[in-house]
Amino acid sequence: MILKIAQLGQPVLRLVAQEIPVEEILTDEFQALIDNMLETLDEEGGVGLAAPQVFASRRMFLAEIAPPEEEDDEALLEVFVNPTVVPLTEETEAVWEGCLSFPELQVLVPRCKGVRIDYHGADAQPRSLELWDFAARVVQHEYDHLEGILTLDRAESTRDIVKTSEIDEVRKLYDAK
Ligand code: NI
Repeated sequence: MILKIAQLGQPVLRLVAQEIPVEEILTDEFQALIDNMLETLDEEGGVGLAAPQVFASRRMFLAEIAPPEEEDDEALLEVFVNPTVVPLTEETEAVWEGCLSFPELQVLVPRCKGVRIDYHGADAQPRSLELWDFAARVVQHEYDHLEGILTLDRAESTRDIVKTSEIDEVRKLYDAK
C-alpha cells in the first residue's frame, strides 16, 4: 500500500519519534509498516524514508546504503530500527539534499563524512555498519527525521535553500566556486 507522505508543516515531522520495543519488530503490524514504506519509497523514487514521514512517529527508517552503479542495478536498501549514529571522523562535506516531505526545495547540508550506525534490522537482529560519503549522508538525513530535524534546520545560510527547479543553475555556480 502506498502511504501518504507528511509534507512540511505537518506537526509529526517535528516530533521526537518513539523507540520501538524489539519484540514488536516481528509483529504483522510492524512488518506491514516496513512493507508499505518500501513500496512508498519505490513509488516516490527517493533514497530514504523515515517513519515520521508517513505519519508514524517511530524510530525506524529505510535508507539506500549503496547507490546503484548501473542504472538497472537495484539499490541496496536497509531497514534501520532504533538506530544510533556515531561520527567516525570530524571531516564534513556540504552537498545539496532533497526531501520527500518538501520535494520543491534543495538544501545545502554539511554532514559528517563517516558514521557508525548501530540498529536492529527488519528481522529484529542487532546490527552495526560503518558507512561513508553517500550512505553516511543518507542515514544522517533519515536519522534527523527521528529527532524532528529537517535539512532546512541544517542550512548554514538561508542562501543555501533553493528551488529544485533551479538546482542545475545553482550547481553550476556552486561548482565554479
Ligand atoms: Ni527527508
